[in-house]
Amino acid sequence: MSGWPGVNWVWLAAVDSTNAMAERLQEAWLADAEAVLPPTLICADTQWAGRGRHGRSWQSPRGGLYASFVSWVGVEALPWLPLAAGVAVLLGVRRLLPSLGRVLKWPNDLEVEQRKLGGVLCSSRIQGDRAWAVAGFGVNVLGAPALPGDPRQATSLAQLGFGGTLEEAREAILETFVTQFPVLLANPESLRRTWLAASIHGPGDRLRLKTTTGPVEGQFLGLSRQGMLELRAGDRIISLASGEVE
Ligand code: BTN
Repeated sequence: MSGWPGVNWVWLAAVDSTNAMAERLQEAWLADAEAVLPPTLICADTQWAGRGRHGRSWQSPRGGLYASFVSWVGVEALPWLPLAAGVAVLLGVRRLLPSLGRVLKWPNDLEVEQRKLGGVLCSSRIQGDRAWAVAGFGVNVLGAPALPGDPRQATSLAQLGFGGTLEEAREAILETFVTQFPVLLANPESLRRTWLAASIHGPGDRLRLKTTTGPVEGQFLGLSRQGMLELRAGDRIISLASGEVE
C-alpha cells in the first residue's frame, strides 16, 4: 500500500513489535543484492512485545499509535536520528494539540507535566557511507497504559483535550512524521534549534542521568553542533550521546 508518495506503508492488525518487523524487513532486503527498499512505514493496531528504551517493554493495547519508519540515511546524520524522530513526532502531535508547549525530555520522550505521552526507539545498521535507520515511535492516543519498570504515570492525547478519533490522530502524526523526519535530518542546525525550543530542560537546570558508564550529573547547557547533550559539571563540560534522564 502506498499512503504517501514515495513511501511504502505497511499496516498490521497485530505484530510483536513494529521495530522488530522493520529489522526483519531490513534483513530480507539486504539478503537480496538487487532490491532497493524505499522508505517504509510500518504501523500496527497493537503489539504483543512492544520495545521501549533501555530494554524496557512498551505496553501497546488498541487505542494507541505504534509505528516504525525505515529509511536509508547518511552516516553523518546518525547522531541526529533520535532528536529528529522526537521532533517529528512532536510536530505531528501539535497538529492535534496546537497549544502543547515544551514537552521534549532528552533525547526524545514526550512528557507533559512529568507524565509520558509518547516515546521513540531508534536503531541503525551501517552499510558503507550510509545506514539503515529504524525510527520507532509510540503515542498514547485514547488510553494511557502503565509504563512497565517505570514509576511515572502516563497521559494521552485524549486526556490532554484531543476529541478526535484514533484514525484522525494516526493520520496526522504519521503524515507529519514521514514528511518532516527527512527534512529535519537534512537540516541539523534548524533541528537543533527546534529541539531546544521544545525541550523541557532550560539553561542551568540540574540533570542527573543514568549512562552505560554510571551516573552523570550536571547543569544543562544545551545541544552541541554535533547533536550531543552538553552538561556543565564544575569546570568540565560533559557531552553525551545517550543516557536516561532521571
Ligand atoms: C520509550 O521507551 O520511550 C520508547 C518507546 C517506543 C515505543 C515504540 S511503539 C512502536 C515501536 N515499536 C516498538 O517495539 N517500540 C516502538
